[in-house]
Amino acid sequence: MFSKDGNPKDIKTPRIVDVVWHDGEFIEWKDARVHVMSHVLHYGSSIFEGIRCYSTKQGPAIFRLREHIQRFLNSAKIYRMDHKWTLDDLCDASVELVRRSGMDQCYLRPILFRSLDEAHPAFGVNPFPNPLACYIGAWDWGKYLGDEAIEQGVDVCVSTWNRLTANSMPAMAKSGANYMNSQLIKMEALLNGFAEGIALDDRGYVSEGSGENIFIVTGDLVLTPPLSSSILPGITRDSVIQICQELGVTVKERTVQRAALYVADELFFSGTAAEVTPIRSVDRIMVGRGGRGPITEKIQKAFFEITKGERQAPGNWLTYVSEQKQAKARNNGFGSAKIESAAGDGEEAVMSA
Ligand SMILES: Cc1ncc(COP(=O)(O)O)c(C=O)c1O
Repeated sequence: MFSKDGNPKDIKTPRIVDVVWHDGEFIEWKDARVHVMSHVLHYGSSIFEGIRCYSTKQGPAIFRLREHIQRFLNSAKIYRMDHKWTLDDLCDASVELVRRSGMDQCYLRPILFRSLDEAHPAFGVNPFPNPLACYIGAWDWGKYLGDEAIEQGVDVCVSTWNRLTANSMPAMAKSGANYMNSQLIKMEALLNGFAEGIALDDRGYVSEGSGENIFIVTGDLVLTPPLSSSILPGITRDSVIQICQELGVTVKERTVQRAALYVADELFFSGTAAEVTPIRSVDRIMVGRGGRGPITEKIQKAFFEITKGERQAPGNWLTYVSEQKQAKARNNGFGSAKIESAAGDGEEAVMSA
């Protein structure tokens, strides 16, 4: 976690996709730049998403793309960002970006922000005079909390920082500014030797990690804090809830006291970056037997099988990039015979998994 000179840094350099989608066009990575006087840099006026694209036997598949883009549109609406992009536009752009990347797996980062009109610059807090810019970048991101974390779990602390309150900064919007709060939580955790911090809400109930939702296993019951505990409505969280329902595991949204973390049988994080990561200890108190518990393992296994396209998901969760390309071509009237068989292959493979 720490480099030799003592600087706490995340170290690995990710492999990046050298094209970026910008307002309807693909540009080179090196040209995806903003002016330093852009509104977003001064006032935090951005909303964004984080989406994983997984490697499957049928090629790259984007996990719950439409749900992520819908949350992106919701975040933009909350912040009165009047842009022209539709759900389909942004889904198509994401698929095309993965296709152009040549990568079989990657992490996608759509972002919409207030920039600067250099001909008519505006520098006040009022965001309305500033034009909006929309980009989607991508890179290859490994295991967010470390390669070993998935099996062995992570050591975390309860943060001295509280999560945002619902009437100050809405946690349900994935805005860039919210991540100043996340950074305080993360930096404090790292500097104290923990992999991650868990924030409480303003009432003292468990909220979430700096970039993950949290689940508590007690007996054969799985609990997770409700949206009213100032959490981001995580798409992985929703996936875990649906997976539990399929596995016959009882799952409930419930306010959780800090002390319940210490006496839980199992704890785990969920998130696009963190996926399903067990928590081994909280504030140096061992959780359960101090590793990945059996219920976490069961849920994690199902999650990874689904993301690899090896298990039927409870819904239409995977967008296969090659299939989408074929479907697009079909709609445009190109080579339908070939297309039909390619789309068929993908579907069959999923069904038989
Ligand atoms: C603060 C916060 N909570 C929860 C999550 C998990 O959300 P999701 O599963 O949609 O990635 C994230 C990650 O995006 C996050 O940043």
